Amino acid sequence: MDPRLNRRTVLGGGALAAAASAVGLDADGLTLPAPASGDAPMTLAVNGQHHALTLDVRTTLLDVLREHLDLTGAKKGCDHGQCGACTVHIDGVRVLSCLTLAAAVQGAEITTIEGLTPPGGALHPMQQAFVAHDALQCGYCTPGQIMSAVACVHEGHAGTDDDIREHMSGNLCRCAAYPNIVAAVRDAASQMERG
Ligand code: FES
Ligand code: FES
Repeated sequence: MDPRLNRRTVLGGGALAAAASAVGLDADGLTLPAPASGDAPMTLAVNGQHHALTLDVRTTLLDVLREHLDLTGAKKGCDHGQCGACTVHIDGVRVLSCLTLAAAVQGAEITTIEGLTPPGGALHPMQQAFVAHDALQCGYCTPGQIMSAVACVHEGHAGTDDDIREHMSGNLCRCAAYPNIVAAVRDAASQMERG
């Protein structure tokens, strides 16, 4: 993914142009990016399937997943990068899909909670551990927690409870199920390391 292409840079470009226009700046000595908009064809690889879509270039990955691909596991909690409910993996790395432009992740492998295990397969050890430790109440944050937790283990950040708390701190839980979430991640980490 091109880190220059996220929602903040695109929308920021538009805001900058509007602000410059408002104070009468022109192109002399200052090159302003034009606000990006309009539909464009794009192909996204999600959970092993390729999807050809025509979308506004400003569409976030979260909105594509939920509104165009019917993958509603990733949740829209804040839509501002503050809660972690929208966490998915892009090429194995955890990413906030509400801050990611769909157009910027073409060619990457996107994995959502629905694709964490093959269709009909057993639950992922992290999912099993969340069930076993009752690591949820309303469940709204849970898909994001699990996607983040799997990445946390792969990153090597699940060695201690403090480590888990620190590296899961981007995933908020309004129900405050944190003690059980930490226990689930600790349990799943040992199983994943053995497996
Ligand atoms: S919905 Fe993406 S961080 Fe909250
Ligand atoms: S289980 Fe309700 S927000 Fe986390």
